[in-house]
Amino acid sequence: MTWFAAILLLVVAAIILITIHDVVQRKHTILRNFPVIGHFRYLLEKIGPELRQYIVTDNDEERPFSRDERRWVYTSSKRLNNYFGFGTDNDIENPPAGYPIIKQSTFPAPAVAADHDELHPVPAAKVLGAARNRKHAFRPESIVNISAMSFGSLSGPAIVALNRGARGAGCLHNTGEGGLSLHHQQGGEIIFQFGTGYFGVRDPDGAFDLARLVDLAEAHPVKAIEIKLSQGAKAGLGGMLLGAKVTPEIAAIRGIPVGQDCASPASHTAFSDIDGLLELVETIADATGRPVGIKSAVGDLGFWQDLTDRMVATGTGPDFVTVDGGEGGTGAAPLAFSDHVSLPFRHAFPRVYRTFAERDLHTGTVFVGSGKLGLPTSALQALIMGCDVLGVAREAMMSIGCIQAQICESGRCPTGVATQRPRYTRGLDPADKSVRLTNYIISLRKELLALAHACGQSHPALVGMDRIEFLEDRWRSTSAATIFGYLDPEFGLPSRTDREDIDTLMQTAQ
Ligand SMILES: Cc1cc2nc3c(=O)[nH]c(=O)nc-3n(C[C@H](O)[C@H](O)[C@H](O)COP(=O)(O)O)c2cc1C
Repeated sequence: MTWFAAILLLVVAAIILITIHDVVQRKHTILRNFPVIGHFRYLLEKIGPELRQYIVTDNDEERPFSRDERRWVYTSSKRLNNYFGFGTDNDIENPPAGYPIIKQSTFPAPAVAADHDELHPVPAAKVLGAARNRKHAFRPESIVNISAMSFGSLSGPAIVALNRGARGAGCLHNTGEGGLSLHHQQGGEIIFQFGTGYFGVRDPDGAFDLARLVDLAEAHPVKAIEIKLSQGAKAGLGGMLLGAKVTPEIAAIRGIPVGQDCASPASHTAFSDIDGLLELVETIADATGRPVGIKSAVGDLGFWQDLTDRMVATGTGPDFVTVDGGEGGTGAAPLAFSDHVSLPFRHAFPRVYRTFAERDLHTGTVFVGSGKLGLPTSALQALIMGCDVLGVAREAMMSIGCIQAQICESGRCPTGVATQRPRYTRGLDPADKSVRLTNYIISLRKELLALAHACGQSHPALVGMDRIEFLEDRWRSTSAATIFGYLDPEFGLPSRTDREDIDTLMQTAQ
């Protein structure tokens, strides 16, 4: 045998061994799906920062999530060191307009019981459903929860990983509007969502079926129910699930015929105005005993003014309101809708909150925020604005392996997260990825606690507006009160009683 033939043989043998190793190992989806060549991604990821620093983009440039933000999620979910060295690389002396600065207290708050608990439990400061005496009112155990993403837009293994991870982190898992599948049944507690398609809770004609919802809530750990009015990434738009995608499994979960196109119209058929919506909320809450909320992106403010006026007049209303920012994610949407329809979170939320607060409805309503809030600074900002609970979607996807390829609509997601094709989903091992989701949620809670302590508080919801301001150009800055339009210094905070209760709870072991 010549030298050349021997070397060739060795190379081929090495490739075969690496291929077997990559396919058999369960830690890295990319390697399982793309044996051997998948290693180049890790190599590029390793030297990417250096390359990008000089040639392509800096650490904060990429969208929707910058390299720094992704690195924080990845390292947190793997329980690696998520610190950054050498100091900020942001130009904080000449920042982009509206750059937030958190103003620490000279006397940080001492550690609380949650700091010493490895789950770093940070419950919500409000009891969901308490203001309207719902039978199954409860205090959400975690201020960070998994936002709505349906089985269909995400793969079965991804949903399994999220639900199992939610159980580990003690947070809630929102089903999204695609119904409650077998994949959702891993022990994680659930917020059941339905939209205009009423998937999983519809009769054969496609109309909302209350009895099916009651049965579903009784059969599963459904803690609350969310009526989806719209979502930031495609507000005001219906959807169409093509017949080819309506597999027997999806058909059974959604309650639709196999192989036939299935439309989700832009509007609901179970109600056509605000009074109808409020009636439906009460009907569902009475029948299930669960708190009921609405999810919406923010466009026309008139809706929120009329809604809150009718809430005052009738004494009824949703137990929680989820405000989704226009920068939010989706499996697929027209570019014009993603880029231009509905307000981004930082514009949207204060307008809605003010509308509630001006009618004194704010302390009795639980506010949920979503729209890139799965990172410590944006999360704290949202809590300061008045959110009580946060929903994270794409950050949760990243924690289970998403690499921001931004091709969810193609069915070719290389990490098996946002696709139904076995070619890709086979690589996603829910046992490993569920732990990563758990680690990520715990890390976010831990860092929120640290920020709260730095601001002199035992819980992030107790941090007031005076603790944040926004830098502008030419050494100017604007206060949060001015930016949010909050005239009352108590705006953004829970009621005095809720503040005292959560402070006591944080001081005692949970
Ligand atoms: C793949 C995917 C599917 C989604 N499906 C739903 C859905 O079924 N119902 C819904 O209300 N929002 C849905 N959303 C929106 C998210 O729940 C969330 O509101 C939005 O992405 C903002 O959160 P984020 O910035 O943390 O991703 C989806 C988002 C993604 C990325």
